[in-house]
Amino acid sequence: MELSVRVMVVGAGVIGLTCAWRVAAEGFDVTLVDPAPASGSSWVAGGMLAPVTEAWPGEETLLELGLSAVAVWPSFAEELTAAADRPAGLRTEGTVVAATGTGDRAELDALAEHLARLGRTVQRLSGRELRRLEPGLGPAVRGGLSVPGDLAVDNRALLNALQHAARRAGVTFVGATVRGVLDDGTRVTGVRTDQGELRAEQVLVCAGAHSAGLHPALAGLIRPVKGEIVRLGHRTGALPPPARTVRALVDGRPVYLVPRDGGLVVGATQYEAGFDTEVTVAGVRDLLRDAERILPGIAEYALLETAAGLRPGSPDNLPLIGPIGPEGLLVATGHHRNGILLAPVTAAAVLEVLRGGSVPAPTDPRRFRRSECT
Ligand code: GLY
Repeated sequence: MELSVRVMVVGAGVIGLTCAWRVAAEGFDVTLVDPAPASGSSWVAGGMLAPVTEAWPGEETLLELGLSAVAVWPSFAEELTAAADRPAGLRTEGTVVAATGTGDRAELDALAEHLARLGRTVQRLSGRELRRLEPGLGPAVRGGLSVPGDLAVDNRALLNALQHAARRAGVTFVGATVRGVLDDGTRVTGVRTDQGELRAEQVLVCAGAHSAGLHPALAGLIRPVKGEIVRLGHRTGALPPPARTVRALVDGRPVYLVPRDGGLVVGATQYEAGFDTEVTVAGVRDLLRDAERILPGIAEYALLETAAGLRPGSPDNLPLIGPIGPEGLLVATGHHRNGILLAPVTAAAVLEVLRGGSVPAPTDPRRFRRSECT
């Protein structure tokens, strides 16, 4: 029966590609519609798999979801590497968090205490201890944390592997722009694209920050949250990049440096500016200034790229995964800062729904519509 189910996935970022691959690998007939697969915020991303160091007091459900996601990442990466016959890009060296001034150290202490209350102890380190782990850290670093369980992935290697795995699993790629999801008042009938209409029994919207405009049931639920990054390349003679992801607070501003083969991704700014993806002078200036305070050696690196992406923010910072609106409409979006981390568990949840199972309440997209229905 499952073989006859036809699923149209809208959006080939990390969520759409992962869902398409996993669903097709289970025997579903999957079409993936996107004019530019593997672009947008998935391409811009730093690639941290970092539930602990992305944790905020008050977001305990997100922390639990992230911890369950990071736990499956090693086996997910292994399966993907085999399915795609190329590396998935996982890095298992872990993460350190560095603080400069006393205010920054106090904030990290508060984070460590918050995590300890939740039963997650992280190791506090002095500046000297941190420099023993990562000798490139500069003298401005006065203390911090070691979080070996927060991992990272080379997002571009990942996207490459996902596209190959999806094609090998039989996913049909269609290079069209979806303008909206169509329904007959009761159930989904397909999508309207810039190249005409496409029929489908099930439509899975994975269009990131652009999802809200695709069906009235999603209106107002997803907003774009801009983030800028800088890519740096190591040059001969410069200090080597760190082995671990380095996150830091510099005068209250967060910055992260994620190692890549031969360089670093430095990120990220965060502000709400609609669908603006222009890189600003101030954004790049702040990132480079703060990153250089933490790792002075980057001054000798090559400036390779600047880019901006749009995180898909939801009202409660948790993703929306499952059915919403007319029968046959599914959504997997709203992953905000954690799309890459949550991709494997998102695809597993989508598969569960397609097989007739239920969705966990915290990420059920209908949680925002319940009050309107009663
Ligand atoms: N997860 C990192 C970011 O959104 O910038």
